[in-house]
Amino acid sequence: MNNAELNQRRQDATPRGVGVMCGFYAERAENATLWDVEGNEVIDFASGIAVLNTGHRHPKVIAAIEKQLQAFTHTAYQIVPYESYVSLAERINQRAPIAGPCKTAFFTTGAEAVENAVKIARAHTGRPGLITFGGGFHGRTYMTMALTGKVAPYKLGFGPFPGSVFHGQYPNALYGVSTEDAMNSLERIFKADIDPKQVAAIVLEPVQGEGGFNVAPADFMQALRALCDRHGMLLIADEVQTGFARTGKLFAMEHYGVKPDLITMAKSLAGGMPLSAVAGRAEVMDAPAPGGLGGTYAGNPLAVAAAHAVLDVIEEEQLCQRAQRLGQHLVEVLQQARKTSPAIADIRAQGSMVAVEFNDPAGKPSAEITRQVQQKALEEGLLLLSCGVNGNVIRFLYPLTIPEDQFTKALGILSRALAQ
Ligand SMILES: Cc1ncc(COP(=O)(O)O)c(C=O)c1O
Repeated sequence: MNNAELNQRRQDATPRGVGVMCGFYAERAENATLWDVEGNEVIDFASGIAVLNTGHRHPKVIAAIEKQLQAFTHTAYQIVPYESYVSLAERINQRAPIAGPCKTAFFTTGAEAVENAVKIARAHTGRPGLITFGGGFHGRTYMTMALTGKVAPYKLGFGPFPGSVFHGQYPNALYGVSTEDAMNSLERIFKADIDPKQVAAIVLEPVQGEGGFNVAPADFMQALRALCDRHGMLLIADEVQTGFARTGKLFAMEHYGVKPDLITMAKSLAGGMPLSAVAGRAEVMDAPAPGGLGGTYAGNPLAVAAAHAVLDVIEEEQLCQRAQRLGQHLVEVLQQARKTSPAIADIRAQGSMVAVEFNDPAGKPSAEITRQVQQKALEEGLLLLSCGVNGNVIRFLYPLTIPEDQFTKALGILSRALAQ
C-alpha cells in the first residue's frame, strides 16, 4: 500500500471531521524519527501533539509495557485495584506543585482529566461557574468545548454548550493585552455575567498550547491566585500540553511562585499510552463521593506502567535540563533567522515549548507564510506543527530525547525553510 492509495481509502472510510494533517502514513518510529509506508524518513517535531517528550518507543517505556503485558492488561481499577496505580499517584503527589497534602486520580484522555477537574471543583465549592480564557484549548467533549476559547474548528456546529462558562482575556504582549487588561476582563465578567461567589474555578493553561504557545506572565498568575483566594474560587492549571519536562520543569506551574489547587495532565505522562490525571489538594480531591470519579479504562495498567518508566527516564536523562538547553539553542536559531526574515513577528519560549509567529508585510497574521515554512521543512524531512488562534504560529514539540546530531540537522532544515 502506498500513501496515495491509503489516502483514497481514508477518504472513503472515515469522516472529514477527523481532519488529518499529513498525506503520508506511519509505518514505524524510533525516538525522533518516523518512517512512512513508502520508506520515507521524517524528523518528528510534532511528537504526536506533545505526547512523546521521551521519544517514540523509549526502550524503558517499551520494557515496562511488555512486563505489564505478561502480568495483566485490565482489571478496571475500581473493581480490582493494583499497586502500580497507587505508587504512580504517590510519585505524582510528591512532585506536583500543590500546597499541602496532594492526591491524584487517573483517567484516559486530556479532555477527561479537565472534565473531572471541573466535577471535583464543583463538588468541593458547591458553585457552578467557570472562568477560562480566549485562545485556550481544553478538549473536544462538551464541557471542554465550552471551556475552549476558539470557535473554528472546535465548536462549529456543535452547540449548545454547557452554561456558566465565561471567557476572560489571556495576556498577550504581541497583541497588546497586558496583565492589567486581562484582570480587568475578569472584573467585567463579574459585573456583567456572574457573581464571583458563584464561581467554582478559574481554568487556564500556564502556556496556551493550541492557542499559540502564549506564556502566562508571572504577575498574571499571581493576580489570579490572589483573586481566587479573595473569592473562594479554585485555580486549575491545565498542564495537559505543558507537563512532563517540556517547559524545563516537570510542571510549568513550577516556573511561577504560585500553586494551583488542581492540575490536569495527560499527553507526555505515559509516553504514547493513553493516560491522564488530576492531581490536587487532598481536601479538594476528596470532595466527590465514592463512585463519583473513575471510568472503565481510567488508569489502565499498561499506561500506568509506561508512566512509571516515563518518570524514571525524565529523571535519569535529566530531560528538564535538556529541555532548557535545546530550547535555548532553538531560540538562538530563530533569532538569527529573524534578522533576515521580516515575516517573523515574535519568538516565544518556555524551555522547549518554543513558538515562532508570522505576519505578512502589512503586519497581519499570516497562516499562508506559516504553511509555506511548514511545507518547505517537510520537503526536507522535518515535520512541524502549527497553532495559534490565527493559524500563524509554528510550535516546536521535538522529543526531549532527540540525538544531538539530529537536532542540529533539523535546525539546519528549519533555517533554510525560514530563509525562503
Ligand atoms: C491544554 C490541553 N488540554 C486538554 C487537551 C485535550 O486532550 P485530549 O486530546 O487528550 O483529550 C489538550 C489537547 O491538545 C490540551 O492541549
